[in-house]
Amino acid sequence: MEVLVQKNTGVRLALLPPLALYVHIPWCVRKCPYCDFNSHERGGALPEQAYVQKLTSDLEELLPSVWGRRLVSVFIGGGTPSLFSPDSIDALLSAVRARMVLEPDAEITLEANPGTVEAGRFRGFRDAGVNRISVGVQSFDRAMLARLGRIHSAAEARRAIDAALESFDNVNLDLMYGLPAQTLEMARADLAQGLSCGVPHLSAYQLTIEPNTVFWRERPALPEHDRCADMQVEIEETLAEAGYQHYETSAFARPGMRCRHNLNYWEFGDYLGIGAGAHGKVSFPDRITRHERAKQPAQYMEGAATKESIVSVKELPFEFMLNALRLVDGFPAGLFEQRTGLSLLGIQKNLESAEQRGLLERDLKRIRPTARGQRFLNELLELFLPAR
Ligand SMILES: C[S@@+](CC[C@H](N)C(=O)[O-])C[C@H]1O[C@@H](n2cnc3c(N)ncnc32)[C@H](O)[C@@H]1O
Ligand code: SF4
Repeated sequence: MEVLVQKNTGVRLALLPPLALYVHIPWCVRKCPYCDFNSHERGGALPEQAYVQKLTSDLEELLPSVWGRRLVSVFIGGGTPSLFSPDSIDALLSAVRARMVLEPDAEITLEANPGTVEAGRFRGFRDAGVNRISVGVQSFDRAMLARLGRIHSAAEARRAIDAALESFDNVNLDLMYGLPAQTLEMARADLAQGLSCGVPHLSAYQLTIEPNTVFWRERPALPEHDRCADMQVEIEETLAEAGYQHYETSAFARPGMRCRHNLNYWEFGDYLGIGAGAHGKVSFPDRITRHERAKQPAQYMEGAATKESIVSVKELPFEFMLNALRLVDGFPAGLFEQRTGLSLLGIQKNLESAEQRGLLERDLKRIRPTARGQRFLNELLELFLPAR
């Protein structure tokens, strides 16, 4: 992969942002009918060794673009990374450490599906250097789990979370709401179960029906828009009472337990993307670049080309806001210039328009979405779209 050298005039970064690493593992036991992530049903034994080798060569290719920079976090996501053996995760993290310096307190997350883990496996991941686990549960309702095509029962989900908590202090639990025929009571019961697990971080995603999924072709009956809004309010209120801070559209954490890797995305930090379909963003003093790898595991493994581009100055304000306005407390006013290399003066009109509509508020220090801006995030973001 060549390092892009064409300059995009107008960008002047005084300081490069923190750098993270995203590793994509693209296989799952079964494809869930709602999921549009780059995940593929495994056909048999996984080519773990060959895949780790390819990940390593992806990383080596990227090294010249980030010489001397340290990694603040690593996120091994999928798909279902917990299908890989602890030995393979150990080989992967050793390869990363041999090539890049990790900050001493670097957060290293691995996503796990409850149908693929037990206590010994979690211990193995911990010994490999993983220090945060994200468990995809979605619901604790037996019939709902079946409707969502999940490979685990509610009891298995609980056992997986308990086992994760035996080896890790830092555990996230993914839930979804607005599910097929879900009532407010059902969403409430899922949340109560999730809370009782005692995890320090919870993510609650409203189900979206995405193209190229089974649910898109055979659309299930979903709760009305207002019912979903009620569920969201209930989730926010219940988690606040239980001591979780709502810090991003879908993320809730006990104090000190926010996900640093995701915060780096939302604060428009840099990240290297390795693995099938992985995306990355790397800043230079005079340009911001993106890379995107081939999605299909077979083509990726055969060496299909990685797409590279320079983010145009026109797109930068929207790209920044798309991330930063997901943060409930918004961002420090200086961060826009620090991360995009552009002056805030260039988007004054957009900011004023958002304020007038009650979607945004700001003082000299911070710019943040109002409660209305958080609810109608798309309306707020549209105001920063590049002019055609
Ligand atoms: C890439 S998945 C990884 C977790 C793991 N593969 C699993 O499902 O157990 C990350 C999370 O995205 C959420 N998600 C996936 N598809 C979604 C959709 N269509 N709408 C809302 N959330 C979704 C789920 O909560 C899921 O746990
Ligand atoms: S297990 Fe996770 S990544 Fe795999 S298909 Fe289901 S939601 Fe998507």
